[in-house]
Amino acid sequence: MDSGYLIECASLLLRWMHVIFAIAWVGSSFYFIWLDNSLKPPVDAALIEKGVGGELWAVHGGGFYNPQKYLLAPPTLPHELHWFKWESYSTWLSGFFLMGALYYSQAGVYMIDAGSAIQQPGVAVMTGIATLVIGWLVYDGLCRLLFNHSQLLFGAIYYGFVVMVGFVLCHLLSGRAAFLHVGAMIATTMSANVFFWIIPGQKKMVAALRTGQTPEPIHGKRGKQRSAHNNYLVLPVIFCMLSNHYPFIYSGPQAALTLATLLLAAALTRHFFNLRHKGIYKWQYPAAGLALLVTVLVTHAPQAQPVVSAPRLTTLADIRPIIDTRCLACHSEKPTKMPTAPNGIKFDQDDAVRLNAPKIYQQVVQLKAMPLGNLTGMTEAERGQISQWFKDGAK
Ligand code: HEC
Repeated sequence: MDSGYLIECASLLLRWMHVIFAIAWVGSSFYFIWLDNSLKPPVDAALIEKGVGGELWAVHGGGFYNPQKYLLAPPTLPHELHWFKWESYSTWLSGFFLMGALYYSQAGVYMIDAGSAIQQPGVAVMTGIATLVIGWLVYDGLCRLLFNHSQLLFGAIYYGFVVMVGFVLCHLLSGRAAFLHVGAMIATTMSANVFFWIIPGQKKMVAALRTGQTPEPIHGKRGKQRSAHNNYLVLPVIFCMLSNHYPFIYSGPQAALTLATLLLAAALTRHFFNLRHKGIYKWQYPAAGLALLVTVLVTHAPQAQPVVSAPRLTTLADIRPIIDTRCLACHSEKPTKMPTAPNGIKFDQDDAVRLNAPKIYQQVVQLKAMPLGNLTGMTEAERGQISQWFKDGAK
């Protein structure tokens, strides 16, 4: 079977799995955060007697639910306990393999662009993987160092680190790979939190309880802190993961600043929801997040193109050589830079070029997203010609 087709299949299956696992992970994590923040101290004396510190009544899907959280632990632990861990591990694993199938196997197209400092695909892949490892080591080091300091201080320092990584990666790699790796770096710390600290801590607590000892409080405290971090990091990560579908967001000289702004907007929004679960409404947080978002969108709006009065109409014959040299390397029956034509868009036939005229105008002139990473070295004059052709009716 054709290798390009195999990559497409792998990408489809891995992406599908990745999204399903992530929904399961984020869903259960949002549920527990909401539950924890919504619990009320029990009034029933029997519950207080049992050691219940908070409870809640809910109705869902035709049934009534009454979750209860123990202040420490129930007097005897039930034999069967549900652990939440595979949601997290499977999200990370599928994400890593998806990154491999798309980015690491086609690093020359996806991880490098005309302006990136790194130009060798192998070096780009190593940089991407190193980012994941270094990100975890720095995060974990910060957590140990600032264990007893406020969440706010920790958040500020970690946010500073993430922004710095964003700037470095946007310089070294294509904007698209940089954004995705910032997201993957944060997501790696989230899964590693579960793997290295939260689950082992819980195991120690359960082991102590089963042998009649009192668990050391450090495990609970650390687990809580790490899951609070995870909770704030979810929305920024999801933004990074989706960003690669919107070239206007990750291209241009200000890409790293855009990333920093949008990560902040996401975390502020999450903060609002966390407070809201506790009945505190601080509208300034989502308002600030929205203001940041709107600022980014407004400042990214494409500039109006000057209308040049040409002596005659620009036709397909004028731009055909541009399409041939700048686009066919990827968008053709037999592309040389990619295994298959991306999004199935091929410009071998004149009709296909005419049919895609609005998209070509948008991608080449307005967003400057194509040629991808300007790997084929399109000039501004050529963009101007495409623009003129489109305005002359794309004949
Ligand atoms: C180095 C490879 C490469 C080159 C060269 C390239 N493209 Fe693309 N193009 C892509 C990829 C990859 C996508 C898929 C979109 C994505 O993943 O961001 C794409 C998508 C598109 C789309 C579809 C966007 C959408 O929203 O569906 C259009 C239109 C397009 N390219 C036009 C062009 C034109 C016109 C040129 C030449 C000026 C060009 N491309 C050159 C790789 C390339």
